[in-house]
Amino acid sequence: MYTVSKEFNLDTIAECMVVGVFDKPAPFTGVIQTADEKMDGQLTELFKAGDIQGKKKSIVKVHTLGKLGIKRLVFVGLGKEKELTFETIREAFGKAAKAVKEMRLTKLLLALDSFVTEKVEELDASHAFAEGFELAAYQFTGYKQKTNLADKTIEEFAIVTEYDQEEILASLKVGRVFGKAVNSARTLVNTPGNLLTSTDMADYAIQLAERYGFEAEILEKEDMLKLGMGALLAVNQGSSEPPKMITLKYQGKDEWKDVIGLVGKGITFDTGGYSIKTKSGIVGMKTDMGGAAAVLGAMEIIGEIQPEQNVVAVIPSTDNMISGTAFKPDDVITAMSGKTIEVLNTDAEGRLVLADAVTYAKQHGADYLVDVATLTGGVITALGNDMTGAMTNDEEWFEEVLQASYEAGEPMWRLPITEKDKERVRNSKIADLNNSPGSAGHAIMGGAFIGEFAEKTPWVHLDIAGTSVASQSSDLGPSGATGVMARTLALAVERFGTEE
Ligand code: BES
Ligand code: ZN
Ligand code: ZN
Repeated sequence: MYTVSKEFNLDTIAECMVVGVFDKPAPFTGVIQTADEKMDGQLTELFKAGDIQGKKKSIVKVHTLGKLGIKRLVFVGLGKEKELTFETIREAFGKAAKAVKEMRLTKLLLALDSFVTEKVEELDASHAFAEGFELAAYQFTGYKQKTNLADKTIEEFAIVTEYDQEEILASLKVGRVFGKAVNSARTLVNTPGNLLTSTDMADYAIQLAERYGFEAEILEKEDMLKLGMGALLAVNQGSSEPPKMITLKYQGKDEWKDVIGLVGKGITFDTGGYSIKTKSGIVGMKTDMGGAAAVLGAMEIIGEIQPEQNVVAVIPSTDNMISGTAFKPDDVITAMSGKTIEVLNTDAEGRLVLADAVTYAKQHGADYLVDVATLTGGVITALGNDMTGAMTNDEEWFEEVLQASYEAGEPMWRLPITEKDKERVRNSKIADLNNSPGSAGHAIMGGAFIGEFAEKTPWVHLDIAGTSVASQSSDLGPSGATGVMARTLALAVERFGTEE
């Protein structure tokens, strides 16, 4: 799949070579300089005329008309050299992947060094290349009898660089692992609720565990009753599908300490329950397990790269349905931690299942927590569809997660949780907490509620209701599930405790 070489002969017969070009007047260097010479300076002419340009994310295809063995050069604009970031370069590769796919080519050469700057070195560029191409290539198979999916995908990548070949190869493989894991998460989210029940999600987790040697535990309803997981059980009460509490453990250290708990909301379909959603609001609620998908995607990366870290992943999974047995507004339930909750809105079910999952992750020894959830429509009102909403009870742990999110190119924005906000979730005449303190600061109320269960454990809450699904395609994938936060979680785990 990947070959890396230093020696490079422009007369090699190849379908296309992808080249990065910066927005600057300086002449071509390296491989392109040689190509230009062989083409009698035609590339320089095209550059001067503005036909080849370094404008960010522009794509220019140039036929070499028999002057080189390589038939086509695909110039990818990278903008200003000084401003190049890991994110720009990943998107540029995504754009290039689309262009090459449209040309129906299956092999390509990459002039890696043309993408390198002082800030983005060769190993970053090769990671971005592999990841960007995987992400851009994603398509959801769907269920049509006749599909119009692209039949050709790029199968062979030949990378040309002066850099150490082994290291580049390793970095390409890691980039590919990241891309593939995000794509796995996307597929889980795109799969409809009837085809991805809690039982299916548990089976998927077991498969991951078998592939990577994780310890897996699936709690059944009887186990939950014994453990007193009254919050998850309440949400499941109206369903004919059994609930599952899914736990995966990865131990990368000798001792089970400094454990990171990754908790993902796994509602396979959210009707809203008796606080039922509107007929338009309910459509798309198969994606209410985006948090679970992100955690499973992160575990796929962790299984592949085997970091020296300890991780416990916990996914509370059920659908939120209506029937004669369903829970209802005014009910008071008791969570696993012992806290009682007055249910004011059955559509605020995510925080309920997460309450028990957070408690359970702590019981499994989690010292640091991140929960990821498609929790509130309110976060979309507050931050739109490009920013994940983040809340925390610990500045240092938040900084680590934020740093990982920058690196992953998955931006997040902090929302506060004040003492007054905490008072609002504690405001109930008959219980310790209420699950829906009114519409002001919706997203914050969700976070504040989960925080009551994280207690003193450093915790970050990520509300991905706005970012888990894209209404339009981007350079790095089609519309639909984005697989957001799989990479951030994996990077937060990988980098944990390392100072950089
Ligand atoms: N699953 C929804 C949140 C959601 C909304 C996700 C839109 C993706 C897109 C969640 O369970 C929910 O219904 N939240 C309510 C909370 C409210 C009742 C306190 C909301 O945000 O409206
Ligand atoms: Zn809901
Ligand atoms: Zn929900």
